[in-house]
Amino acid sequence: MKDPLHTALCDLLACRYPVIQTAMGWVARPELVAATCNAGGFGFLACAVMSADEVGPAIDRVRALTAAPFGVNFHMFQPGADRIVKTIIEKRVKAVSFGRGPDRQMIAQFRDAGIRCIPTIGAVKHAQKMAALGVDAVVVQGGEGGGHTGSVPSTILLPQVLDAVTLPVVAAGGFADGRGLVAALAYGAQGIAMGTRFLMTRDCPVPEVTKARYLKAGTGDILVTERVDGIPQRMIRNEVLDRIERAGGLSKLMRALGSAIEMKRETGATWFELLSMARHLHSSGGLSFSQSLYAGIAPALFRRSMEQGLPQQGLLATGLVAGRLDSLPSCAELMEQIMRDARARLVALGASA
Ligand SMILES: Cc1cc2nc3c(=O)[nH]c(=O)nc-3n(C[C@H](O)[C@H](O)[C@H](O)COP(=O)(O)O)c2cc1C
Repeated sequence: MKDPLHTALCDLLACRYPVIQTAMGWVARPELVAATCNAGGFGFLACAVMSADEVGPAIDRVRALTAAPFGVNFHMFQPGADRIVKTIIEKRVKAVSFGRGPDRQMIAQFRDAGIRCIPTIGAVKHAQKMAALGVDAVVVQGGEGGGHTGSVPSTILLPQVLDAVTLPVVAAGGFADGRGLVAALAYGAQGIAMGTRFLMTRDCPVPEVTKARYLKAGTGDILVTERVDGIPQRMIRNEVLDRIERAGGLSKLMRALGSAIEMKRETGATWFELLSMARHLHSSGGLSFSQSLYAGIAPALFRRSMEQGLPQQGLLATGLVAGRLDSLPSCAELMEQIMRDARARLVALGASA
């Protein structure tokens, strides 16, 4: 009899379990991707925050840590996107995911190379557009999800998308366990994709002091803000976010300038580079100048938390689900638990598992 937990997603991505670890900037580094894949899931390497030169070595590093297939996430508007596409094709990774874009030509290039295309979408019309462009599957991220996020929750968006497209659909936004996996499959999805749950594992290379902030957060400590870059983004409330939220007018501009000075010192960027970045965001995104400056320096604020272990001085992107998680399992323990619990739910529901 067919195993209900072996779905079309497992066949599409050649993984044991229908569970994707999504890309997270400065978080989904080679160590996490390899640990996910070794545990039977499918990991995406977060290359949207890398330079084109960094992508090849990062892919090689994953390969050194796992023999299992894995994917790469990037977006077509990032600097050096053409070179990144070439590297991904040369290195023959199994799949690509995109937060923004891609276009028909890019999808055709990947498909000709046998690379699966699995964009993340947050609206029905985007799922339809991606289906028309010829992608292999879509990850549907409901409003509970981490990072930039929409307002429609998974329980509404997922069935809407399932009704609108015939492709394999993967549910994301708020998933963390075997109950969620069975619920997603019951809706008609082919699996789940999780970000925050994988960030909160022992295999995740984010410093322990930062993970401790995620463990401590309750749902009431997590908010969606547009104040950082003008687009709704879910974060754990901390000292930096409180200041950004509170600051108005001149005070905000002064704080943004203060952070820009620090970023200049850390990255060696020139004033001209920083101000041009802010001016570009200001003119193209309809943001205030201080908001544009924050948007330009947001990467430095994320790196402080995720790489430098300074969570009180950086930003903490998260899904709402962090508010109910209080453990840091290894990826292997997490995957075993998810599959065990999923099978127990199926038995309880009277299905054969
Ligand atoms: C810390 C963090 C960083 C993220 N960075 C990215 C990113 O660089 N690119 C992207 O497409 N999505 C990013 N996301 C969104 C995730 O890939 C994923 O869609 C989301 O976390 C799913 O919701 P969940 O956290 O409830 O599982 C990020 C999410 C988090 C929590």
